[in-house]
Amino acid sequence: MTGDVYILGIETSCDETAAAIVRSGAQIVSNVVFSQIATHQPYGGVVPELASREHLRAIVPVVRKALVDAGQNYQSVDALAVTQGPGLAGALLVGISYAKALAFALDKPLVAVNHLEGHIHAVLLEERQKGNHQLDFPVLALVVSGGHTHLYLAEQKGETWAYQNIGHTRDDAAGEAFDKVAKLLGLGYPGGPIIDKLSVHGNPKAVAFPPSQIKHPNRKEGRSATGTGPRTDFSYSGIKTAVLRHVQIHNLQASIDARRRKLAAIPQPKFEEVLANCDLQMLDLVASFQQAMVEDLVEKTLTAARAYEVATLFVTGGVAANNQLRQRFEKDAAMEGLRVYFPSRPLSTDNAAMIAAAAYPKFLMRDFAPLNFSAEAGMALK
Ligand code: KG4
Ligand code: ZN
Repeated sequence: MTGDVYILGIETSCDETAAAIVRSGAQIVSNVVFSQIATHQPYGGVVPELASREHLRAIVPVVRKALVDAGQNYQSVDALAVTQGPGLAGALLVGISYAKALAFALDKPLVAVNHLEGHIHAVLLEERQKGNHQLDFPVLALVVSGGHTHLYLAEQKGETWAYQNIGHTRDDAAGEAFDKVAKLLGLGYPGGPIIDKLSVHGNPKAVAFPPSQIKHPNRKEGRSATGTGPRTDFSYSGIKTAVLRHVQIHNLQASIDARRRKLAAIPQPKFEEVLANCDLQMLDLVASFQQAMVEDLVEKTLTAARAYEVATLFVTGGVAANNQLRQRFEKDAAMEGLRVYFPSRPLSTDNAAMIAAAAYPKFLMRDFAPLNFSAEAGMALK
């Protein structure tokens, strides 16, 4: 195939309705993300039914805007791509049904994309955009988001990409831990960006959290998928419980409730308002929690990188937007002579440019989705 290929990507797996046009997997032509934060904020987390409803409302204007911003129209794009999973079933179905209908009506090919592969391709897309087409293999990718903390070895054979999972969280994902801890401390939703900003104001050494413990590390899951190397699993429900215990032992509940009440009275609280309602004890706790999370993610990922002698590291997904995580990875990876790549912050969190980019190699291989394919809420990446 020669010439430019314009793919319209659609992403509705969680709480962002997104559409984007990407040229030949290497250039973002438009990128529209409609966030549902305001809808879910009063509930302190994503409400699946509301997410589906909001996607239904937003999908048509979001796709139209992506086309207009790109100077394209429904007929001019070469193919459509949509997230098949993993994600919320009802939310995924909105994007899939819409993409199927469009592809059928326009007689265009449709590519189904795994959301996690999308996060990995966010890095590849931006590197190509910067003119970096050279990548040293093996590549290890940490996909760290609200639903996942997964480590993959990524390989490219011709146009095709293949992935081997060498570890994942046994319980809560890292982003989920940020969100749950923010909720239990009355800091608001989503927790990651708030904790990221609050942490600068606290002492990360104030509270010592014990390292996460994985029970049965060497049971039958003790090897990677192909059995050729060690597994590196994560666990983040323990640290959430440790934060809760800290709150109980130090009698912090009354001040948390007071903050929650104050912030609930403000329609969409700004960061400064959250900060103004945190005392130093709370800021120290938040900074120490983030420090422990970052420590664990970096340490485990670099141990895996050493075990598999990888040349390149990708860190992607919503939590990859975290400032301290980026700094620690950059510093520690450099000490080991390892190249580490992150997406820009807007492409770390959910977007459709990454879906259109991941679809490009599949488009070249004519790996199109049949019109009867459906959402796969627990879809694995292979
Ligand atoms: O990739 P993403 O947008 O959606 C999923 O696929 O889950 O990731 C969302 C997650 C949320 O848990 C959010 O709190 C977290 O990413 N997150 C962050 C930051 N920005 C978003 N976590 C830590 N620091 C951040 N700056
Ligand atoms: Zn995601």
